[in-house]
Amino acid sequence: MCGIVGYTGPKEAYPIVITGLKRLEYRGYDSTGVALLNDGLKVYKKKGRVADLEEAIIGKDLHAHTGIGHTRWATHGEPSDTNAHPHTSASGKLAMIHNGIIENYAQLKKELTKKGYVFTSETDTEVLLNFIEDIKENNQCDLEEAVRVALKRVTGAYVILLLDAEHPDTIIAARKGSPLVIGVGKGEHFLGSDASPMLEYTKEVVYVNDYELAIVRPNELILKNLGNEKITPFVTKLDMELAEIEKGGYDHFMLKEIFEQPSTIHDCLRGRLDATAGTITMSGIESNMEHFKNANRIIMVACGTSWHAALLAEYIIEELCRIPVEVEYASEFRYRNPIINKGDIIVAISQSGETADTLVAIERAKEHGAIIFGIVNVVGSSIARISNGGAYTHAGPEIGVASTKAFTGQLAVLTMMALKIAKEKGTISEERYSNLLFELEAVPEKVSAILKNAEALKTIALKYQGASDALFLGRGYNFPIALEGALKLKEISYIHAEGYPAAEMKHGPIALVDDKLPVVFIATKDSYHEKIVSNIQEIKARKGKVIAIITEGDDIIPGMADDVFFVPVADEIIAPMLSTIPMQLLSYYTGIAKGVDVDKPRNLAKSVTVE
Ligand code: F6R
Repeated sequence: MCGIVGYTGPKEAYPIVITGLKRLEYRGYDSTGVALLNDGLKVYKKKGRVADLEEAIIGKDLHAHTGIGHTRWATHGEPSDTNAHPHTSASGKLAMIHNGIIENYAQLKKELTKKGYVFTSETDTEVLLNFIEDIKENNQCDLEEAVRVALKRVTGAYVILLLDAEHPDTIIAARKGSPLVIGVGKGEHFLGSDASPMLEYTKEVVYVNDYELAIVRPNELILKNLGNEKITPFVTKLDMELAEIEKGGYDHFMLKEIFEQPSTIHDCLRGRLDATAGTITMSGIESNMEHFKNANRIIMVACGTSWHAALLAEYIIEELCRIPVEVEYASEFRYRNPIINKGDIIVAISQSGETADTLVAIERAKEHGAIIFGIVNVVGSSIARISNGGAYTHAGPEIGVASTKAFTGQLAVLTMMALKIAKEKGTISEERYSNLLFELEAVPEKVSAILKNAEALKTIALKYQGASDALFLGRGYNFPIALEGALKLKEISYIHAEGYPAAEMKHGPIALVDDKLPVVFIATKDSYHEKIVSNIQEIKARKGKVIAIITEGDDIIPGMADDVFFVPVADEIIAPMLSTIPMQLLSYYTGIAKGVDVDKPRNLAKSVTVE
């Protein structure tokens, strides 16, 4: 939710800031703006994408060695030129960008209005900025001190970057609840919501923590807490290359990321799974094994696609480990008064590691003394850092807004985790354990085989692109994949789609079925196969159009479905990792056929850092 970039150093700031914003556009793309410091403040901002701003300011004075930039996902106030960041203070001397929500902005606005402040935008950001300026003027203090005083009164989440016209080489930054990375170069510093804006300049970064404030100059990085005590910056080495965040010849990041899955799943298994030796090495699980073995219950918290991974993990862990699992939407869990007992483990799943609801759900659970295990893709992200232990999915940067490769990475990690715990607990036979290890090892190759037939899904997508609704049905391990298929289709093609357990369909959704409704069945060969065949018949009897994802060699379903897509034979626990691939491709090709900007569909943002 909103991307922020900053630079101070000897180079021209604008090209660095604008390129950084393009890389962070996945976080929001309602409006864009930059503030540059050189002989005073220059602010350029505009509703729309980074490219729109770039075009609008051709020929303007963009020369500066210090600058900040913002790409917005609107919260307070509709997307417009006026609501775009950066905002400038009443005096015109300060400029600020913000990612997050200031919850008590209405109260602060009331106080400032009484003092005569007039606001030009509807944003909480402009309120906070003027609140800071008001403190600076009244207390006769410097900007750093004013920010510190202001933030003590603020509730909500923020990363802010501020420029002061009187200090042309300084950026003041602070964070609580939204991500902030500072890149350390030679005589220069970079700031970003993630490390992508600084990748070609430095691999040395500092992850700023909550309630920390940074004073950033070309040759100086001072980190302090809100109590004005200095903190030694902890410099980490980035393990990421520029090529990983570029499209690499694909038309869209989403397509690139779908096609990367053989290698991302392989990377996730590499160094952990050795089927021949019969071992799974996962240090995060090993160091928490006693907790897992003795767990009374595992509570999974996540949002969106990550929630679907959690749901599948419930089926797998209960089957293999015989540990009760509950799956919770983080946004619900955080506001309930959940019962968390000694011996419960919280497993938090998140691609970004920054989802606000998941982060707070973890904090609530920690207050109850729960052990937190994080399954996260972004290395060094907030969830990774506040968890007691965890496992990375190693899918690499995921830039397309719709989650694809991170989801299969989550499934791979969760399956390994279940197998490791089951082996340790003795709840799985040697033979099944060994078979599943070999099955897992074969997944990358089977995903490659599916991807070779991608064109077949394009044909199906073109046939049904005109539909206004779609139903996705699955049973057992494939039910979470039906939910995920429906989510992917609606976000990427704007077609209304529902995911349901195939048998539950009779209790309501069957009323939607007519000769126009596409019904996608995830019907791979598993212990539910005969049952789902009956469900297909029920849809066909009502003239619904059946698209079936089935296992190679299935000679029953092709005779009844309108369209079929084959996936390789796999154990029923492993099969969802395969059947999710055609779901991704079907939505991608449908979105493309409908002219949707699939990497940046409307209203969405990659990293949901507001609740
Ligand atoms: C859907 C999608 C979202 C995310 C959700 C959670 O394609 O990407 O539903 O899964 O916003 O995000 P993370 O996993 O970053 O916590």
